[in-house]
Amino acid sequence: MVQPESYRVTTDTEEVDFDAACDLIHTYSYWAARPIELTRRGFESPSSIVFGALDSSGATVGCARVVTDYSTFGWVCDVIVHPDHRGRGIGKMLMKAVVEHPVLAPMRLILVTRDAHGLYEQFGFERKEMMRRPAPESPPTGCV
Ligand SMILES: CC(C)(COP(=O)(O)OP(=O)(O)OC[C@H]1O[C@@H](n2cnc3c(N)ncnc32)[C@H](O)[C@@H]1OP(=O)(O)O)[C@@H](O)C(=O)NCCC(=O)NCCS
Repeated sequence: MVQPESYRVTTDTEEVDFDAACDLIHTYSYWAARPIELTRRGFESPSSIVFGALDSSGATVGCARVVTDYSTFGWVCDVIVHPDHRGRGIGKMLMKAVVEHPVLAPMRLILVTRDAHGLYEQFGFERKEMMRRPAPESPPTGCV
């Protein structure tokens, strides 16, 4: 049994495997009904802060991404953990890193989720109504 202590979260782009993160999203998420190249472009955008959860071997087994103007708000998206590593606190480690990130900590953070409200509520997120225009070619539900 792998213990949570063997995982760590980093924003170091030299350490986070963007290909592995994008594969995770496109294999296991319910929201990524888009070409994987678009997801990859989002990860590489200077507007994105990417959080990678690494196991003891350095493999990327989870991620979260925050799109931000570096001034007033951040949009949390693409939060996912590989199914083999779920239930070990990695999702909470990722969200703790997000809300404690020095750029993001003072900001208003927003997100959309289908069913993981209980995770985000543990980090101060509240259920509020919002308006959203889905991308014309995307399905109506999703994380982003
Ligand atoms: C959601 C997800 C990232 C959680 O990662 P994880 O490493 O398994 O989560 P953790 O072990 O850190 O625990 C998550 C906590 O949130 C709670 N939670 C609430 N809703 C949840 C949900 N839908 N899925 C998982 N956990 C949920 C759990 O009960 C747990 O709290 P507790 O420890 O106080 O009981 C992971 O299940 C996943 O990748 N799911 C598929 C993708 C997804 O739904 N992402 C979020 C969409 S915005």
